[in-house]
Amino acid sequence: MDLKPLVDLGYLVGVILFILGLKRLSTPKTARGGNILAAVGMGIGIIVTLILPLEKGDNNYLFILIGLAVGAGIGLLAAQRVAMTDMPQMVSIFNGLGGACAVVISMMELNGYQTAFEAGSENAAGMGVHATTLLAMFVGAVAFTGSLLAYGKLQGLINDRKVKIPAPTFVNMTLLLLIIAGIVYKLVFPSNPFFWVLIIMGIALIYGVTFVIPIGGADMPVVISLLNAFTGVAAALAGIVYDNNVMLVGGILVGASGTILTVQMCEAMNRSLWNVIVGGFGGASSSGAKGDGDQVAREITANDAAILMRYATQVVMVPGYGMAVAQAQKVAHELEKVLEENGVSVKYAIHPVAGRMPGHMNVLLAEADVSYDKLMDLDDSNSTLKDTDVVIIVGANDVVNPSAKDDPGSPIYGMPILDVLDATNTIVLKRSMKPGYAGIQNPLFFHEKNRMLFGDAKASLEKLVSEVKTLG
Ligand code: TAP
Repeated sequence: MDLKPLVDLGYLVGVILFILGLKRLSTPKTARGGNILAAVGMGIGIIVTLILPLEKGDNNYLFILIGLAVGAGIGLLAAQRVAMTDMPQMVSIFNGLGGACAVVISMMELNGYQTAFEAGSENAAGMGVHATTLLAMFVGAVAFTGSLLAYGKLQGLINDRKVKIPAPTFVNMTLLLLIIAGIVYKLVFPSNPFFWVLIIMGIALIYGVTFVIPIGGADMPVVISLLNAFTGVAAALAGIVYDNNVMLVGGILVGASGTILTVQMCEAMNRSLWNVIVGGFGGASSSGAKGDGDQVAREITANDAAILMRYATQVVMVPGYGMAVAQAQKVAHELEKVLEENGVSVKYAIHPVAGRMPGHMNVLLAEADVSYDKLMDLDDSNSTLKDTDVVIIVGANDVVNPSAKDDPGSPIYGMPILDVLDATNTIVLKRSMKPGYAGIQNPLFFHEKNRMLFGDAKASLEKLVSEVKTLG
C-alpha cells in the first residue's frame, strides 16, 4: 500500500498548524493557543513520520518508541519544573539538542555516503547533497556547543568576565576558514577518509565555543536567538537531505523567526549584530556613575510613597527582572486597581529587553490579568513619561539607567532606555544598591528626583497597596 500521500497530507497539515501557531505567538492574548497549535502540528508530523518505516518493511519501532518516551518524559518534567526566570536557559538547552540532533543525523548520512564513495558506487551522493549534509553538520555543531556555553553563562556556571580567549576575532575567523576549507576539500575529494569529516566536526564544535565566549552581559539574549536561528537552519538543511518537507519548512520557520528576533533585539539595544558577535560587552567601566564618594541614594517610606501616588494624576509602573523574581505581578495589578479606584491613571512602561527574555514582562502581566491596553511599548512610554507624576520602578535597573544616554564610557551607552527622569518623581523598588544584569551602577538611584524603597518587590508593593487603601 502506498502510504506516501497520507504522509504528505499529514506534513501539509503540520506545516499549516506551525504557521498559524507562529502567527498567534505574536501577541500574549493568543500566544498560549498558538503554542498548542504548533505543538499539535509537531505531533502530527511525528506520527505520520512513524508510518514511513512501514512502507520499507524494516523498522526499529521499539527503539523509536523508547526514544520518544524518554525524550517526551524529560521534556515534560523540565517544562513543569522550570521557573519563568530560567526560560532562556531552557531555550538554550533545546537549541543545543536540536543542533546535536542535526550533527548526529548528518554523521549517519555522511558515513553512508563514504561507504558508497569508497566502493565507487554510482548511487553515491551528488555534490549538492554532500555539501548540504556537511553544512547541516557544521551549523548543528556550532549551535550545539554554542548553546551549551550560553546555558552555562546564563545559569551563572561560567563567569563571562573571567572566561576569555585572546584575540577572539582572529581565532574565530581562522576556525571559520579552516571549516570552509575542510568542507571544500571533502567535496572535491569525496572518497578521502571519513576522518576528514570528524576533523571538520571537531573544529565546528570548538568554533561554537569560541563564537560564544566573547559575548556576555546584556548581549546574551541576542546570541541565544541567533543560535536558535542556527538550529533552524541546521534542521532545514537536514530536511533537504532527507527530502522531508515538514523538517524543511519547520527549520525555515525557526531560522527565519530566530533571525527576525535577533535583528529586533539588536535594534532594541541599538547595537549592530557584528558588534554583539565581536563582543566585549561589560568590559568598559562607567565613568561618572559610581555612586560612591558623596553620592547618597535617598530612601522613602511606604507611607510617603503611597501619598505621592494617591494624589498623583498619572502613575507609570516600570516592571523589570526583579518583579519576575519576586513574583510581584499580581500585587502590581492590585496596586494599579486601588489607585485607579481613587481616580489615578496607571499604565505600565515595558522595555523590549526588560527581564530575561523577549516579552517576559508582557507574559507576567498578562498572567496577572493586567489589561493589554495598559501596556505601553518604549516609544509610547517615553512620550507618556513626560506627563507622569510618579514612576514606580519595580525590580528594573538597566532598562532605566540614564548612563545609556549620557555616559559614552558606559557599556550600555546607546541602548534605548525608558526616560523615567522625564517624570516628576521616581521611586525604585529593589532590595539593595546592587547593579542589574549588565553589572553597572545606576546614577538614577542618586538623582534628586529619585527615592529608594528597599525590600523585596512583592512585600514593598503589598505595603503600598495597604497604605493607599488606608488613605482612602
Ligand atoms: P536588571 O537590570 O537585571 O535589574 C533587576 C533588578 O531587580 C536588580 O538590580 C535587583 O536588585 C532587582 N531585584 C532582584 N530580585 C528582586 C526582588 N525579589 N525584589 C526587588 N528587586 C529585585 O533588570 P531589567 O532592568 O529588567 O533589565 C534587564 C537586563 O537583562 C538588561 O540588561 C537586558 O539586556 C538583560 N537581559 C534581557 C533579556 C531579554 S531578551 N529581555 C535576556 C537576558 C538578559 P537587588 O538585587 O538589589 O534587589
